Amino acid sequence: MKRKVLLDKALWSGLAVALAGGGVAAQAYEQGDFIVRAGAVMVDPDADSEDINLPGVPTLNVDVDDDTQLSLIGAYMVTDQVAVELLAATPFEHDVVAAGAGVDLDAGTVKHLPPTLSVQWYPRGGASGWQPYIGLGVNYTFIFDEDVDRELAGALGAILGATRADLDLDDSFGLTAQAGVDIPLGGNWALNAGVWYMDIDTTATIKTDVGNVKFDVDIDPWVYNVGIAYRF
Ligand code: NI
Repeated sequence: MKRKVLLDKALWSGLAVALAGGGVAAQAYEQGDFIVRAGAVMVDPDADSEDINLPGVPTLNVDVDDDTQLSLIGAYMVTDQVAVELLAATPFEHDVVAAGAGVDLDAGTVKHLPPTLSVQWYPRGGASGWQPYIGLGVNYTFIFDEDVDRELAGALGAILGATRADLDLDDSFGLTAQAGVDIPLGGNWALNAGVWYMDIDTTATIKTDVGNVKFDVDIDPWVYNVGIAYRF
């Protein structure tokens, strides 16, 4: 009887170690650790724009397609439970569409870089196993290489008599919220999955030789990262 109790104890402690993420191989995140995460990151805009009213055309709104790039994320553990994280990525390129009743126009493409600095809380920091985290931060989105699509240029020519058109989007500064988890793989490696909500608001200007059209666009994307993490 006594032996069985001991056996059960060994079984339970083994199970507890396994649930905690592989036992000795999975070490706790601690103050001074540096965690690098790399993978694929998708920016999925939940775009909403001001109404665009052009003469003789139904009211248009702008929508922005998603794009996936490579991520590089660095986090530094300031304490066992608090980290500072910087998200960087290769430049995103998004298709922009202007749509209204019975109209669906390729408006152009924009590129951007959305570096994001967050303060994170790791509730299980200092313990081994899964490391979930939440964070709050700030995002600066550099928008560049705005190109007007031939469809929009043609429409502006037909409607307004414009012979040329340029697109310009202002850079954006806004707040972000995030959640994620590192799942230990053994040694210093982990699988990472994370999500951010970013408040990215910009003003777009379509500049033509017969006048400008200016409107606000809330891009406000959900951003998803899947990759690997390495702890130094
Ligand atoms: Ni917004």
